[in-house]
Amino acid sequence: MAVVRFGVSLQEDQLEALDNYVKDSQFANRSQAFRQLISKNLVENKWQHNKVVAGVITLVYNHHKRDLSLKLTDIQHDYYDVILSTQHFHLDYDKCLEIVVVKGKALRLTELSDKLIAVKGIQHGKLVMSTVD
Ligand code: NI
Repeated sequence: MAVVRFGVSLQEDQLEALDNYVKDSQFANRSQAFRQLISKNLVENKWQHNKVVAGVITLVYNHHKRDLSLKLTDIQHDYYDVILSTQHFHLDYDKCLEIVVVKGKALRLTELSDKLIAVKGIQHGKLVMSTVD
């Protein structure tokens, strides 16, 4: 796609905040930071409007916890229509990392993610959202 240049007017404090964001996120320049902010906003907008989106749910848990992995599997079967793939990694003797790749209506994906993360014994869970187009 062609790159178009345009001028942006900002207040001094906003420019300072932008430059800090560029520095902290190690962007090459302000344009790259703007592009990132815009695309992030577009993705979030799609989620807010319950459009079809893609995402990944990451779960970390102790596999010795009773029935935990069974519960995770039960929940995933209830949402088979939005799950593209599940991958399981044995991190060490106790810990497992599971990633669930999903695609579907934003609200249904959020619902699935909330249920998985709420399972007792999940140490860390996060849904990362992306876009499909
Ligand atoms: Ni494991």
